[in-house]
Amino acid sequence: MKKALKFAGIGLGIAFVAIQFFQIDKTNLPIVQANTLEATVSVPPDVALILGRSCNDCHTNNTVYPWYANVQPFGWFLKDHIDEGKRKLNISEFSTYAAKKKVKKLEEICEQVESAEMPLPSYLWIHRDAVLKDTEKKALCDWVNVEKEKIAL
Ligand code: HEC
Repeated sequence: MKKALKFAGIGLGIAFVAIQFFQIDKTNLPIVQANTLEATVSVPPDVALILGRSCNDCHTNNTVYPWYANVQPFGWFLKDHIDEGKRKLNISEFSTYAAKKKVKKLEEICEQVESAEMPLPSYLWIHRDAVLKDTEKKALCDWVNVEKEKIAL
């Protein structure tokens, strides 16, 4: 029994070392000013601050990877969220969306923060400063409600 445990331990150790050879791609795509959220929508400083602190890592081409992104399988887990997040909403490419999609995504921003689905809870375990106060959620929703009306459908 003891021997089996020892071998299992060694096996896990080897597997852990082996998966470190499969690092994630951390290159950010370039940010084209004309494609950003700011190119379509006016973003006041308080809103920019909230988005920057709590959303940018998964929803812009300006992801800052933490050190543990270099430790697998944590990096795989992060990368998965980042890719999926950007696929659903990329603030750096917002202006490339069709008008209807722009309005929908703006509305989603408010809905997702109100329902506490965003920022993704697993992100908040480590990024405690990304937790949104009620006043910040309200600021995002108020902003969305003003800006979405300005988009001609
Ligand atoms: C750790 C990564 C991460 C962070 C941080 C994050 N998101 Fe997300 N976001 C995701 C992922 C993954 C999805 C797709 C899965 C889902 O919808 O639950 C998503 C989906 C969304 C969607 C849904 C888009 C759609 O059309 O379905 C919106 C809107 C959104 N996020 C807004 C935000 C806002 C606003 C913030 C900051 C307050 C934020 N997210 C922070 C990862 C993240």
